[in-house]
Amino acid sequence: ATTLGAAAAERGKYFGVAVAAGHLGESDYTATLNREFRSVTAENEMKWDALEPNRNQFNWGNADRIFNHARGQGMAVRGHTLVWHSQLPGWVGGLDTSNLRSAMVNHINQVMGHWRGQITAWDVVNEAFEENGSRRNSVFQQRLGDGYIEEAFRAARAADPNAKLCYNDYNIDRWDYAKTQAVYRMVQDFTARGVPIDCVGFQGHFNSGNPLPSNYHTTLGNFASLGVDVQITELDIAGSGQTQAEQFRGVTQACLAVARCNGITVWGVTDKYSWRPGDTPLLFDGNYNKKPAYDAVLATLNGG
Ligand code: G3I
Repeated sequence: ATTLGAAAAERGKYFGVAVAAGHLGESDYTATLNREFRSVTAENEMKWDALEPNRNQFNWGNADRIFNHARGQGMAVRGHTLVWHSQLPGWVGGLDTSNLRSAMVNHINQVMGHWRGQITAWDVVNEAFEENGSRRNSVFQQRLGDGYIEEAFRAARAADPNAKLCYNDYNIDRWDYAKTQAVYRMVQDFTARGVPIDCVGFQGHFNSGNPLPSNYHTTLGNFASLGVDVQITELDIAGSGQTQAEQFRGVTQACLAVARCNGITVWGVTDKYSWRPGDTPLLFDGNYNKKPAYDAVLATLNGG
């Protein structure tokens, strides 16, 4: 196949991308998006601060713009993200325990309900662990305690029974790492107790200080063995040329090698709009030219 989306589909996977609503009017951006990708994640527009800036007052405009574009092209949509310490509007931090609990459940109900049945997977909880494996000291952790993650997943299952429910995080790629082990133990506990969880999202923000680990494949396989799907949700890799291309190839090979790896999402269409200023971590350069990393991913998907 000649595009990432079609080549991945031939292997039973999706190939997706993060999209920002503000760029949809740029013809090269949208042409590249429509040609290459079969799944879309909103880069910021489905986050709590964007959707519910004031309590129980919802702004769907930018998120719907992305959603409608994607669905109009027959693309899948991943939901990102319901419960996260960052990009949280100020009012949430001022709530006491019982108000925070009801605000969290209401946010999940309203947001999942808005697109009920039409979002393939939701990042229900994002980045809840510290590097040392302890829980991140977020407002949710402080007020609701360890149980908040489980509460969020149970509310999410009820709000949209058709969506896959994911836990999503970064730096959980290396198997022999405290944070990876902590997330693994949580998923193991959830599946053992019947807490609804369907997938783990591996963000995949790699750079020279945090390169693709050699046991990445082992990590994906071990999580899959717990009975959940795995997805690469926010892939970008600092660098350029063949060095970068080889790492993209490695991620692609790992996903292809794990049956329960559903697909890969890269965190942006073009280097010029990457969230990592000064880096060139994506598959298309600032002029929408295909980079060596693109060729490596496509060839790998095509079995080369
Ligand atoms: O919308 C405001 C705009 O009104 C204002 O004028 C402008 C001035 O700075 O800021 C705009 O908000 C920015 C927002 O992106 C939308 O463009 C924020 O400053 C900026 O911090 C924010 O960055 C996003 C970042 O998440 C915030 O945490 C990045 O675009 C986005 O790529 C990044 O994505 C995260 C994932 O959600 C979770 N995993 C890590 C990943 C990378 O950090």
